[in-house]
Amino acid sequence: MMSEIPVKKKRQCQPGPPLPANPEDHVCFPGVVLCLVEKRMGASRRAFLTALARRKGFCVEGANSERVTHVVSEGNSGEEVVEWMKRNGSRSVGAAGSGPALLDLSWFTESMSAGQPVEIKARHCLTVTVHEETLQGRCQVAAYACQRHTPLAHKNQQLTVTRLNLILEGSQGALEAMAEESLFCGSEGRSLAFSRAASVLKSLPWTVRSLKDLSSLPGIGEHSRRIIQEVLEDGASAEVENVRQSERYQTMKHFTKIFGVGVKTAGRWYQEGLRTISDLQAHHAKLNNAQQAGLLHYRDLNSPVTCSEAEAIVQVVQKAVEQFLHGASVMLTGGFRRGKQTGHDVDLLITHPTEGQEVGLLSKVISWLDSQGFLLYHSTYRNTLQALEDEELSVSAATMDRFDRCFSIFRLSSMTWEHDCELNGSGGAHCRKAVRVDLVVTPYSQFPFALLGWTGSKNFERDLRRFCKREKKMVLNSHTLYHTEKKIFLSAASEEEIFQHLGLDFIPPEQRNA
Ligand code: UTP
Ligand code: MN
Repeated sequence: MMSEIPVKKKRQCQPGPPLPANPEDHVCFPGVVLCLVEKRMGASRRAFLTALARRKGFCVEGANSERVTHVVSEGNSGEEVVEWMKRNGSRSVGAAGSGPALLDLSWFTESMSAGQPVEIKARHCLTVTVHEETLQGRCQVAAYACQRHTPLAHKNQQLTVTRLNLILEGSQGALEAMAEESLFCGSEGRSLAFSRAASVLKSLPWTVRSLKDLSSLPGIGEHSRRIIQEVLEDGASAEVENVRQSERYQTMKHFTKIFGVGVKTAGRWYQEGLRTISDLQAHHAKLNNAQQAGLLHYRDLNSPVTCSEAEAIVQVVQKAVEQFLHGASVMLTGGFRRGKQTGHDVDLLITHPTEGQEVGLLSKVISWLDSQGFLLYHSTYRNTLQALEDEELSVSAATMDRFDRCFSIFRLSSMTWEHDCELNGSGGAHCRKAVRVDLVVTPYSQFPFALLGWTGSKNFERDLRRFCKREKKMVLNSHTLYHTEKKIFLSAASEEEIFQHLGLDFIPPEQRNA
């Protein structure tokens, strides 16, 4: 169990011969595991490039294992790489949702000079011709996101990258815009349907080229199908474009990006004729404390939080926690645990191996952080289902955890953030940034459930709970797993054990980007 709560993320890379071991302490990009194809590259150049990548903090494996996310080759065709992968690894190639991205060396060299994995673009991807029979075989896409592998760089970037591939990205974006619009209209069911369709597309290890390709996919409803068709045929959907350009959608999006403002409040303001942030100020819109803080820090809170900023916050919280409870640990969850390079906030779980020791810890930690000037805003909820002032703080009472938790806005200053300030070349005094942080304290026995619940993605969590209820007659939340027929709670010492209870293959965090 302790192995689940390292303070610092470490990955163990197990290289196959003849490559030397990956230095364990030096992996900066969890969720990115490279494999270099020796064919045409040659053994010595491969060894050189491997060493280079590792020096820059990349994890490089010697063979095509389950963990590999990026296969890099030089001068090979897509088919040749697929062949090579079949011969050089344990993983079956082309199983639904499980294949890595097949990339040209250009992606590698650009990433090396950027010092981090660059975004995969069409020009980096190798072409693989998909034969009719593979088309049939590939259609076994599981119905629930918790049964599928969904990597961050999804597989439509991997195959034939023509206009069609870009179009598919377009249709996924289109579906997500429709999901958002439906939420703004209060149609939760409709929103879910669009989100699910988008999530299925993200998990595909192949490119959708025509409507026929959708026929055997689960979770693509009539409306989503219509939108995908429009995008496939015309390059865009008129319906989605109308939504995107509508004053209502744009205003709602603008308002809901204010911390503490949910769909209800944004909708009310829209009804009252308010359209901009200055309108809110001019009309003295009634704002609660969270919303005032949200408005004050609007720009910072809507600029992405980086990995190093998140790490800096982990350090500060770890320091605070250690002062009051020796041996307590702080774990970074949410999107960062899934390998995202940026996020909208920092989600932290705090626990202690002796159950009960964690009681009362949060308030001490918050007081200390506040006294040190780290907090711009905080609001704590003590182990209760107590409703939040606005529906935003993003979850309804029904799904709300019962942990001690704190919604906060941290002030990252030059002191906590020196490294980046130097990199940016900006003076310490200007080096301040407001960052949203959620702190959650969990009893040790509930930690694996909390970890699974807080790692996300939201689509993954939703499907996991739906799967439990419908297929297993169980109820899963961030505290427990309960069997409704046997009327027993199933305990677990790790995420893996929870998956075992559910009869599901373990899906690693970096494959939960549904
Ligand atoms: P986030 O909203 O922080 O999303 O919730 P994220 O995946 O980390 O993405 P970004 O980068 O910040 O935008 C993280 C997970 O925590 C769960 C959500 O369901 C999600 O899976 N969560 C969030 C809760 O369980 N309870 C909450 O009150 C909030
Ligand atoms: Mn998050």
